[in-house]
Formats: sequence, C-alpha cells, structure tokens
Amino acid sequence: MNRDFISSPDGIRSCFLNHEDDDELEMKTVLEIGSGLGLIAILLAKMGVGKILATDGDQHIIQRLKSNIEMNFEGDVEMKRRIECISLEWGEECLMMTQDGGEIGVEKLDLIVGADILYLPSLYPKLMESISFLLETCKNQVNSYPKFLLAIQERYPVEETTFRNNLVEKFHFQQILISETYFKEEGCNQDDDSKKILIYLYQYEC
Ligand SMILES: C[S@@+](CC[C@H](N)C(=O)[O-])C[C@H]1O[C@@H](n2cnc3c(N)ncnc32)[C@H](O)[C@@H]1O
Repeated sequence: MNRDFISSPDGIRSCFLNHEDDDELEMKTVLEIGSGLGLIAILLAKMGVGKILATDGDQHIIQRLKSNIEMNFEGDVEMKRRIECISLEWGEECLMMTQDGGEIGVEKLDLIVGADILYLPSLYPKLMESISFLLETCKNQVNSYPKFLLAIQERYPVEETTFRNNLVEKFHFQQILISETYFKEEGCNQDDDSKKILIYLYQYEC
C-alpha cells in the first residue's frame, strides 16, 4: 500500500493543485489519521508540507512512529519540526493530545489523509465519528473546509463501498476517484495476487 502510494504521490499533490509551488506547500497543515509507522507523514514532509499532524490511537505505534521520524530525519531539526506525533483514538470524543499531553486545536487544517485505515470493518463506526468530527470542525487558513484524501487497499469491497457511500451522503461530499492501481506483494508471481489500490478525494459541496 505505502510503496504504491509513496512511489506515486500525485494523489497528495493533486490536493494542492492551486498551490503547487513549494512556498505554498510550506504554509499547509495536513492531519493524517491512523499514521502507523509514518511513511505518509514522512513523504509529506519530504514533499515540503509545512506542518504534519501524524496521529494514531495505539501508544506503542506512536513510539515507533517517533523513532521512525527520528531515524529518517536524523540531524535534520527542520524536517523533524514539521511532523508532530499525536495520540488520536477514533470515536466520538476524538481528543487529540500532543506529545507532552496537552490538547491541541484542529481548526486550521488544509487536508486530512487516511491510508489503509479501512482494514477492519468493525472499526468503521468509530472511524466515521472521527472523520465527521474533523470534517465538520476544521477549516483551513481561508476559512474553507479541509479536503479528505482516502487511500484504500481493497480488502472488504462491499463494506468499504458502504463506508464511502455513507461518507458522501452524510457530508454531501463530492467523491473523486483519483487513482485505481494494482500492485503485487513482493515475492508473489501469480497475477491473482495483485492488490487493488483506490485513492479518493472528498470535497465539501455547499
Ligand atoms: C493498517 S494500519 C495503516 C497505517 C498507515 N496509514 C499505513 O498506510 O501504513 C492502520 C492504523 O490505524 C490505527 N488504528 C486502528 N484502530 C484505531 C483507532 N481506534 N484509533 C486510532 N487509530 C487506530 C492502527 O494503530 C494502525 O496504525
């Protein structure tokens, strides 16, 4: 999933179509839901995004995320400064805690990113609550709603489609399919081992 997404960052780039130059990217704030080990967050930093809020609900994962950022940007204070690791557990409360335990404001967000976060259908209701909260609460610098970029490694096509349909209905969001690609796991030779990757962009429709 990440290999594919990272080797083709056009999905993320396309979210900033009107702001393609690096100076503009530097001004952007992106929140990632379910960052895991932080590959997307690290990619965003390398692309030049000014502030990345990398969130996850698992404290062990947060520790590994921090180590990963440390290893990737060893000695590069400027790059490390771009990524903030934040504890965010999906669900109604959706409280975001900073590294030192404080609560943070989320009102200035340009983009929300979620990669491979639909991996377990039992988590969808809580995930939907968090996405709802973020999309309804946050605005960007020019007082518009943030966009939401969702990258799916297809695992449960029926449940994933229902989740996406609910999202669009609930928020009157326009859903744009940015990319549909396939990749094979390393070491697999058979064609039917290829996995489907879907990348969608959501934008609030007034
Ligand atoms: C399949 S991993 C994807 C990680 C990363 N986005 C990637 O593409 O490699 C899903 C991530 O969601 C996080 N997660 C699962 N349930 C969560 C919850 N209830 N609240 C917050 N994060 C959760 C997991 O800890 C894990 O890091």
